[in-house]
Amino acid sequence: MTAPRPGAGYSPANALTRIYKVVSVQWATLYLMRKVFLAAFAVCAVSLLAQDAPPPGGGPGRGMGPAKNLKIIKQEEIRSVMGAFVAGTGLKCSGCHVQGDFASDNKEEKVVARKMLEMVRSVNTNTFNGDNKVTCYTCHRGDKHPATAPPAQ
Ligand code: HEC
Ligand code: HEC
Repeated sequence: MTAPRPGAGYSPANALTRIYKVVSVQWATLYLMRKVFLAAFAVCAVSLLAQDAPPPGGGPGRGMGPAKNLKIIKQEEIRSVMGAFVAGTGLKCSGCHVQGDFASDNKEEKVVARKMLEMVRSVNTNTFNGDNKVTCYTCHRGDKHPATAPPAQ
């Protein structure tokens, strides 16, 4: 411990510099915490979306066996991704899936949804450093048809 040395080293300018240093360290910490918080928030938002739309009784992952026709997502992502699809586009499971056959690609919406997912993943990878900034909801806002132009005044 160095005791304060009156006279030597102390000047209003020095005190100011010290305050400035403390403030900038706190600012940096705050910035870091904000980043961590935002990341945590993004993760929570995704799982919340998934919970918003629980698949009807015995949905994917529960007593359904392994998926047969996944081209983009992984088995363990089915539940959260389908939840985000439903919340993002306002479509029900049956809006994209043939009744009773989730693996079938015979519904146009499912084929389009795959392209949409590829678009979303590539824009996040290429433009947003891998952060999930763009989601189905960004454009669709819970609606099958995203607005292309602002509403007429
Ligand atoms: C916006 C369209 C869309 C909606 C809505 C949707 N799905 Fe999907 N689903 C897909 C697409 C696309 C795939 C294929 C993903 C891939 O190829 O990686 C898929 C795959 C699946 C699979 C895997 C099937 C297999 O065997 O390969 C299951 C199970 C599934 N969805 C269940 C559901 C359930 C349950 C719901 C409602 C909660 C739902 N989906 C809502 C588009 C949708
Ligand atoms: C960059 C904006 C944008 C994003 C992000 C986006 N979409 Fe779309 N989507 C559109 C537009 C525009 C259309 C065409 C709508 C129309 O024809 O009215 C469309 C159409 C669709 C359709 C076909 C609807 C129909 O009329 O048959 C499906 C299904 C769909 N999107 C699913 C998704 C899913 C699932 C995601 C997330 C993975 C997604 N979209 C993300 C803009 C977007």
